[in-house]
Amino acid sequence: MNAVTTAAPGAPVVELDLSELRHDPYPAYAELRRSAPLAWVPSVGRHLLTRYDDIVHAEKLPEVFSSREEGSLLLRTVGPNMLREDDPEHRRLRSAAEPPTRPRQVRDLWAGSFERTAHELLDRIAGRGEADLIRDFAEPLVAANLALVLGLHNTTADDIAAWSRAMMDGNSNYANDPDIWLRAEQATRAIEEAVAEIAEAVRREPDGSVISSMVHAAEPVDLAEIQNNVKVIIGGGVNEPRDVFGVGAWALLQRPEVLERVRADPAMWKRVFEETARWISPIGMYPRQLTQDYEIAGVTLPAGSRVALVIASGNRDESVFERADEFDVDRPHHPHLAFGGGPHFCMGAWVARHEVSALAWPLVFGRLKGLRLAGSATASNSRSAAGRLEGWVFRGLTSLNVTWQASA
Ligand code: HEM
Repeated sequence: MNAVTTAAPGAPVVELDLSELRHDPYPAYAELRRSAPLAWVPSVGRHLLTRYDDIVHAEKLPEVFSSREEGSLLLRTVGPNMLREDDPEHRRLRSAAEPPTRPRQVRDLWAGSFERTAHELLDRIAGRGEADLIRDFAEPLVAANLALVLGLHNTTADDIAAWSRAMMDGNSNYANDPDIWLRAEQATRAIEEAVAEIAEAVRREPDGSVISSMVHAAEPVDLAEIQNNVKVIIGGGVNEPRDVFGVGAWALLQRPEVLERVRADPAMWKRVFEETARWISPIGMYPRQLTQDYEIAGVTLPAGSRVALVIASGNRDESVFERADEFDVDRPHHPHLAFGGGPHFCMGAWVARHEVSALAWPLVFGRLKGLRLAGSATASNSRSAAGRLEGWVFRGLTSLNVTWQASA
């Protein structure tokens, strides 16, 4: 099915400035939800679907809202992979890769090593009294955890983080910058080599990792498929947990009364995680392509139409979440969309929940006494010495500069 790269007949056309979206997409999303819940946005080259209920509806119909988007930059960067496949192809790859990321496996196989790595990283900075917690803690932690779960013992956390960045840049290389393509290709070649070496080793000696699980899958998965899916997991498994860590810590440091309650009742870390992911979703939107004509939000989209499911907007939909723009750990439970929905629901959700809410936050707030934001950040301040919120396809803090009482 060829992609239709123009507005559907009758779809409202809304001009949005990408630099404004990068700075703060939420006012534009609120306006779209009110007046044009399905709108063609020329600068994005897609229809944006922005209301919660419509996004959930689309996710329940993967045979209509296909993940096989034509011409996707992700396909160019990593090749065919589960994220851009539909069932049954998607199911074969997903069931091969998923077992090591289930809650029990996270607890039994990985949690101990995750905790050791977090302590090691904190040991390195504890005596300094200041750090950028994104660069010096969260990113190396989640990258090391990902290497472990994947089974990539032949790589370092720095390799994983650098490869992830190079591929993410490739996935958003709409300007076709040759240097960005070159770096993405170097990263993907390095991943292919590392995966080939490990696949050979775990064929003889299975080790419970994602690569091992794919090598020994009931329905065969070939080496190129393993390589491409490892690329997609590295591309998506670093920045999102890092960004939830950063945004949640930043929100709590600006709300001492909430932080005090969470310290007194550690069961609340889980609620902090879900509320952070809802409030500022690390992935703001992802694409789908229509397999047939279909009416949604008052517009009939022709087959081939390109749609972006704007989950960051659905997560601020006032008809579902009261005072949706506020960070409120006490809000009544309602499922958010930050991990997506339907067959592509995030495979790393339990890894992320554990590494951030069970380990990273409790350890950082427990060990770094007198932790505070550097400079004078206030609750309404999204640009401060501590860091700046940025992005709309992916959104997080550029840095999280903090100080504390240095320990010997
Ligand atoms: C807070 C952290 C995370 C968030 C918010 C997040 C968000 C998402 C979202 C929204 C999707 C669906 C995309 C789509 O349908 O097009 C997704 C899929 C996926 N995520 Fe995550 N992710 C996170 C962490 C991780 C981690 C740590 C891993 C790896 C261990 C991971 C691996 C994947 C994979 C493999 C898929 C594709 C699943 C499929 O196609 O069936 N994610 N994630």
